[in-house]
Amino acid sequence: MRSVSIFAGSVYGNAQHVAEEVQTMLETEGVNCEVFTDPATSDFSDAESVLVITSTTGQGDIPPNLEFFHSELRDTFPLMDGKPFAVVALGDSSYGDSYCGGGRQFFELLTELQGKPVSELFEVDAMETLSPEEEVVPWVKGQIEALTQ
Ligand SMILES: Cc1cc2nc3c(=O)[nH]c(=O)nc-3n(C[C@H](O)[C@H](O)[C@H](O)COP(=O)(O)O)c2cc1C
Repeated sequence: MRSVSIFAGSVYGNAQHVAEEVQTMLETEGVNCEVFTDPATSDFSDAESVLVITSTTGQGDIPPNLEFFHSELRDTFPLMDGKPFAVVALGDSSYGDSYCGGGRQFFELLTELQGKPVSELFEVDAMETLSPEEEVVPWVKGQIEALTQ
């Protein structure tokens, strides 16, 4: 069974809290996982399965704690060779076109790196819920088989 590396991009702590709740759920389900909030590209290359949980800041931007990581991956382009991945995007639909832009940027990059998406981008709208973990934890639970097989 593959372990899951969770890369959490967060400005005010929402996405990080969600990532920690997901980690607790995965460990309860017997899945090895680790949460990275200041990852190196080697953490990405070493990952057996990739789960990005990120909010969006600015106008469709990736949170500062994952900005360098994202641009390093773009520059060094470590191909994933079919490795499974999923992306959860926390956003706010009142931002219009830049809604969930941080998550969308990661989804595009991981697709370009030839990872295997286990699902479409999972978007959580702050206009609709104040407890994103209540949507994200069950969603990730439903992806365990695809992420770890
Ligand atoms: C300054 C600022 C800019 C934001 N820009 C966007 C945006 O462009 N698109 C979007 O979907 N959400 C945007 N958001 C909403 C956040 O992504 C959302 O509130 C998220 O839950 C924050 O999670 P975090 O605490 O992990 O950073 C913005 C929020 C703030 C405060």
